Amino acid sequence: MAILPIVIGPDNPILRTKTKKVPKVTKEIKQLIKDMIETMHEASGVGLASPQVNRTERICIAVIGGKITPLINPKITSKSKETDIDQEGCLSLPNVWLMIPRSIEIKLDYVDLQGKKQQRKLMHFDARVVQHEVDHLEGVLIVDYPHSSLRSE
Ligand code: NI
Repeated sequence: MAILPIVIGPDNPILRTKTKKVPKVTKEIKQLIKDMIETMHEASGVGLASPQVNRTERICIAVIGGKITPLINPKITSKSKETDIDQEGCLSLPNVWLMIPRSIEIKLDYVDLQGKKQQRKLMHFDARVVQHEVDHLEGVLIVDYPHSSLRSE
């Protein structure tokens, strides 16, 4: 296990790089996920995506239903039209808190640590965290949203 350095700053190229699908859940991928979990714990986050630890695999971890859940090749297959707006921060953007609109409900496909395909419906906080993390996998950050001017210190 290892705590990995977290990449900081909206202009860092790795945070703007679209990630690549993981073909197989290897020992190396499992180790990366363990390290990401330890790193997120240390930073007191509720989610972490691979570009934030300088990687390009399509992997993130998110607290879902209070449980840290590794998401390999996550894909949001549907999003509710209904949204709400709430404050979000990001481990890669220290001291930035923005009001971000997110769909209240999403459907998510992903592969679990055992390499098994999973489908879940997520709501409210869980849906918000996963939308934030999947954005990271596309090179998108909270500062890209129209509400980015509403900064609260
Ligand atoms: Ni983030």
